[in-house]
Amino acid sequence: MLERIEEIRAEANAAIGAAASSAELEELRVRYLGRKAELTGVLRGIADLAPEERGKVGGAANKARKELEALLEASAERLDASELDARLVADRVDVSLPGAPPRAVGHTHLIARTTRQIEDIMVGLGYSVAEGPEIEHDYYNFTALNHPPGHPARMLQDTFYVRSHPEVLLRTHTSPMQIRAMETQPPPIFIVIPGKVYRRDSDATHSPMFHQMEGLAIAEGLTLADLQGTLLAMVRGIFGGEREVRLRPHFFPFTEPSVEVDVSCFQCEGTGTLADGERCNLCKGQGWIEILGAGMVDPNVLGFVADSGYDPERVQGFAFGLGIERVAMLRHGVPDLRRFFDNDVRMLEQFS
Ligand code: DAH
Repeated sequence: MLERIEEIRAEANAAIGAAASSAELEELRVRYLGRKAELTGVLRGIADLAPEERGKVGGAANKARKELEALLEASAERLDASELDARLVADRVDVSLPGAPPRAVGHTHLIARTTRQIEDIMVGLGYSVAEGPEIEHDYYNFTALNHPPGHPARMLQDTFYVRSHPEVLLRTHTSPMQIRAMETQPPPIFIVIPGKVYRRDSDATHSPMFHQMEGLAIAEGLTLADLQGTLLAMVRGIFGGEREVRLRPHFFPFTEPSVEVDVSCFQCEGTGTLADGERCNLCKGQGWIEILGAGMVDPNVLGFVADSGYDPERVQGFAFGLGIERVAMLRHGVPDLRRFFDNDVRMLEQFS
């Protein structure tokens, strides 16, 4: 009997030591220590043995069982650890892979898209695109644009100044680039200038930072009719081929004459009334929507760049400036300008 116990022990020991998986180990546990195992039978039959046999056989069988249990436990730990390592390698997830279906990487912001759309229209008319500094000198932002010393736009409550340099400010419009552009190239000049501008304003239709598109055309013989034709082409590109423009007299320090420009309403086709007879909410029943400021460049402004070849007796032209947010709001029915800058993807994704 003792010999048989030793055989079982040796055989089980070798088998457990060679087990290559925890499933195999579980099989061996059942085979050698389970209810129907030979060793279990031996232990169960101790009581039936002759009294002088019981101690020796019981001791040897118990010792073998303990040894095998300990060995099973150690092997289980070893196999668990290596199986975990293997799984970690095999089941590795590449978190940089696209999902299924893959999500789009993103898209341009509606303001950037509107800007590019207007740029494209103007490039089609022969204009080039220029950009300039957002931190600007008082000279370019106001003085060279013919703003008199007491002009309200110069007031502290309307503009962000740099405290240590009172003549430096965040530009309040893209118009200073008219001067900078004319300083660097002689006439003729046909450019548009998109960019960020800053004002001390904040409500549903004003943000302390917003975007404008400036336009400047200077050559020999340009007239207000050229301005009107250019703007007509521009608004038709933005709002549709059926649109008309209307110029109303206005005032800007750097243009003379100055105009405010309306586009015929694209929601009610300029009638002021919707199909159901209701007053058009977009143009408030007017049939026209104010869209930008413009005018013929004031000879005083050209006087500041006369050294670069802009002789007001020889060349003249027009300028215009429009708010890009305003165009995007009208075009897409966005009720609050601040939504453009909240960076809420639920809002931004609507314009992909
Ligand atoms: N700079 C003006 C503003 O921010 C807009 C403007 C009006 C620009 C008339 C122009 C212009 O070039 O001719 O309110």
